[in-house]
Amino acid sequence: MRKLVLSGIIAASVAFAGTAMAADGAAIFKAKCSPCHGPAGEGTAMAPAIQGNDFFKKSSVDEIAKVVKNGREGAAKKYKQFAIGMPAQKTMSDDDIKAVVGYEKELANKK
Ligand code: HEC
Repeated sequence: MRKLVLSGIIAASVAFAGTAMAADGAAIFKAKCSPCHGPAGEGTAMAPAIQGNDFFKKSSVDEIAKVVKNGREGAAKKYKQFAIGMPAQKTMSDDDIKAVVGYEKELANKK
């Protein structure tokens, strides 16, 4: 009995660690990116669409991750029609950035 309870606790903590570690790209997108890029990545008056965007379709995850991490503002801006730039996501971990970029690639291919 004691052994059974113990293995139950171990199994539960392993399962918990698993979910805590897997970065959820969709949840990160919703929390940190959708206010500017739109809930489904359709774009807003503030930022370009991700759906159908060739940059996301054609660039590697690393290339896109670099823009997310370092931002793209001032003279480096590609879309002059938007007043603001892409803010650098300095507090995001590399794993979270990779997860959200993976999700954005999915959104881009929807259109
Ligand atoms: C405050 C508004 C804002 C937020 C929040 C924001 N972005 Fe952006 N993003 C922009 C703007 C504006 C641009 C266009 C920059 C330019 O002119 O090159 C952009 C551009 C980009 C680009 C380059 C797109 C292209 O076509 O070249 C990527 C990649 C990107 N954003 C990813 C993200 C991710 C991932 C998040 C969430 C972690 C995010 N953005 C959150 C405003 C935002």
